[in-house]
Amino acid sequence: MIKLIDLTKVYKGFCAVDEINIDVKAGAIFGFLGPNGAGKTTTIKMMAGIIKPTSGQIIINGMNLAEKPSAVKQYVGFIPDRPFLYEKLTGFEFLLLIAGLYRLDHTPLFDHRISELLELFDLSHWKDELIESYSHGMKQRLVMCASLLHRPGVLIVDEPMVGLDPRAARLVKGIFKEQASNGTTIFMSTHSLEVAQEICDEIAIIQTGQIVAKGTSEALRRMAGVDGDLEHTFLKLTEGKRLGHEKFLSAH
Ligand SMILES: Nc1ncnc2c1ncn2[C@@H]1O[C@H](COP(=O)(O)OP(=O)(O)OP(=O)(O)O)[C@@H](O)[C@H]1O
Ligand SMILES: [Mg+2]
Repeated sequence: MIKLIDLTKVYKGFCAVDEINIDVKAGAIFGFLGPNGAGKTTTIKMMAGIIKPTSGQIIINGMNLAEKPSAVKQYVGFIPDRPFLYEKLTGFEFLLLIAGLYRLDHTPLFDHRISELLELFDLSHWKDELIESYSHGMKQRLVMCASLLHRPGVLIVDEPMVGLDPRAARLVKGIFKEQASNGTTIFMSTHSLEVAQEICDEIAIIQTGQIVAKGTSEALRRMAGVDGDLEHTFLKLTEGKRLGHEKFLSAH
């Protein structure tokens, strides 16, 4: 469903993403992990069509993003790490604005869809309040709501759990699982190893722009040769790169 082929981004001579290859199956939740500055957001921005790759391909649902940007964007829901919201709109008005951008018709069925999503994200009571009065977590949930309006087949999410309280995080994890079980493919970056372990079918770890490990959390643990939790695995695998790339490669 999602294929990244030799995807590369060079910023003024600095290679932020270095020929990465990732293949995500339809209906899977894919976790993208890595230390700060590893290249996660850069990869995600390329997948969302916000920045252009220096080289490589992004194929989503069989469509090449470079060739069919509108069709791919119509198929994708994107939740950025730092979303921009029009604070002088109410939550409901914001959703109508986004629906307009996706050219969704304002029908009674559509109104029902908005109410359903607001309910799902526990925002119904706040829909007529200005966004400027929302807490961080409420804004985050409103953006998630907006990203699902057009029923995307692929959801691309940059650090969804940051700033969410435990109840909201549980709610969002449940919604992601539900979406995936209905066939939506989810690609998410996260620093939460617990979240990755709990809901991701497969995980890739990126470091200094390169994928250093890929597989189920169980496979990564085996690869790292540690008995402990995913935190130990993560530390071990990202340490390998610092010790020398050759050492890491032998772990494959
Ligand atoms: N517009 C830019 N111009 C130059 N360098 C950039 C730009 N955007 C990102 N970078 C660099 O690319 C590298 C990868 O950044 P990126 O934001 O993708 O990391 P990340 O994995 O998302 O990190 P974090 O976990 O902190 O969110 C960093 O070294 C960053 O400084
Ligand atoms: Mg980032």
